[in-house]
Amino acid sequence: MMQTETGQDLAKAAHWLKANQVVAIPTETVYGLAGNALSEKAVAAIYAAKQRPQFNPLILHVARIDDMRLYAQMDNVSRLLAEAFMPGPLTLLLPKRDLVPDITTAGSRKVALRMPRHPMAMALLEMLDFPLAAPSANPSGYISPTTAQHVWEGLHGIIPYILDGGPSQVGVESTICEYQDDKIILHRTGAITADMLEAVAHVEVIPLQQQNKLHAPGQMKSHYAPNTPLYRGDIPELLERFSGKNIGVISFQTVHEKPHTTAYCLSPAGDLAVAANALFAQLRKADQAGHEVLVTEWFPESGVGTAINDRLGRALAEHKQKA
Ligand code: TXA
Ligand code: MG
Repeated sequence: MMQTETGQDLAKAAHWLKANQVVAIPTETVYGLAGNALSEKAVAAIYAAKQRPQFNPLILHVARIDDMRLYAQMDNVSRLLAEAFMPGPLTLLLPKRDLVPDITTAGSRKVALRMPRHPMAMALLEMLDFPLAAPSANPSGYISPTTAQHVWEGLHGIIPYILDGGPSQVGVESTICEYQDDKIILHRTGAITADMLEAVAHVEVIPLQQQNKLHAPGQMKSHYAPNTPLYRGDIPELLERFSGKNIGVISFQTVHEKPHTTAYCLSPAGDLAVAANALFAQLRKADQAGHEVLVTEWFPESGVGTAINDRLGRALAEHKQKA
């Protein structure tokens, strides 16, 4: 077993990355499991560490918008979006250049690119002469990590170093979009909303589900699943349905106090950004508290609420059984 160290030493993180090792890094969305995106060896180590299926491609993280041209063909709309939202929680899907190994994009001719908005991630990228491939730093199939401690829980003994940059600010993974045929296809919802993209690009934004296409690889339904079965609906009704059981309640604003229930209220003040920030940490906490079932509700479909509903949807028990 490998010794896993947690710390704030950028030089140490850079040292491991230059040696083709994988290192967990903080970003503003969730923690990433980073490796040299141009090294087949490092990328293979990422897939191995999180036991990720090799058909699920990785996002490239770069230090500057201008660097994106080295790895992908940039169209004008994508450049506009990059300039408006980067660094920040947006990933662009673009035609890839040969420099990016096939293993990084799982054989796809497109590459996903983003520039994280976290001072340590940005400083680290500046120290390296290669981009970082980084999926979320969780074992494949479990909830994404938003603290160094979450990463440690899932990957200690498997990776040499966890760069601790404090809790992730946004709390849900980046929005993924692709400009194609004068439209923007939204592959994954996040803190950058469809409205925000539309306001900058002045083209229609279409959710992927409305496309007559397969889901993006890796958009597997059980992607965020806790081990405890999670149900979504009207909370009082669900509490009735599961009465007698030990229940964890993941709610937006209302604190549900009942016997045998524990409340995990994400934002008593009703702030969706606060709720997104707390989502994965509370989902983990609830999953580890020994409840028989977890129940949750629909969040408002505005702002980052859409992404919260999407992630909770993937965490539901019904999807776990199917996957
Ligand atoms: O916020 C984030 O994006 C975080 C942080 C660490 O940057 N990363 C992240 O990576 O969420 P991951 O691997 O957990 O999710 C990336 C998603 C996957 O669903 C993957 O299938 C999709 O992006 N993706 C990556 N490259 C793609 C490609 N070439 N074509 C289609 N989908 C792609
Ligand atoms: Mg992930």
